[in-house]
Amino acid sequence: MEEDIDHILITEEQLRAKVRELGTQLAVDYADKMPILIGALNGATLFMSDLIRACRIPLSIDFIAVSSYASGTRSSGVVRILKDIDRNIEGRHVLVVEDIVDTGLTLSYLIENLSARKPASIRICALLDKAERRVADVPLDYAGFRIPDEFVVGYGLDYNDLYRNLPYIGVLKPQLYRS
Ligand code: IMP
Ligand code: MG
Repeated sequence: MEEDIDHILITEEQLRAKVRELGTQLAVDYADKMPILIGALNGATLFMSDLIRACRIPLSIDFIAVSSYASGTRSSGVVRILKDIDRNIEGRHVLVVEDIVDTGLTLSYLIENLSARKPASIRICALLDKAERRVADVPLDYAGFRIPDEFVVGYGLDYNDLYRNLPYIGVLKPQLYRS
């Protein structure tokens, strides 16, 4: 597995520090709001679990799974809900937790879909921001790291469903994938 990684982009220590910083900020911003954090499966699972441990306020969690990529490394633009949230979010303060925002197509669909359910507020927290690839204009209220246009894996992010369990964010050797 590690031999498929060209180089490490963000180390475990950098991830830990950033997630702690985001969690602390969220705890301030959502102090009395009892937010519901909605994690985007499967990529956001590791980020989500570390983030909520760093956010010491009353909150609840839920998960949603959407398909954005048929396969490979490029967004198809076609978004489908594979697993919906289980909770009613009407009147709740919602924070969507994403692993990475690339074109932004997945998130803009998610935001539109969740907004229709009348939450009190809806914001986005993404660990990684591949800003130069943005197609849809989505406001990232909380963002961890801005990264260059390289395909990354680890800490929840996959390539063909592998590498999610790497504890760092790494760049996959380009010869291993076709974009
Ligand atoms: P978007 O719709 O183009 O913003 O794509 C968002 C989704 O694509 C993310 O939630 C990831 O699952 C996936 N994705 C985008 N870039 C990468 C990457 O570099 N590595 C792994 N997954 C990625
Ligand atoms: Mg994802």
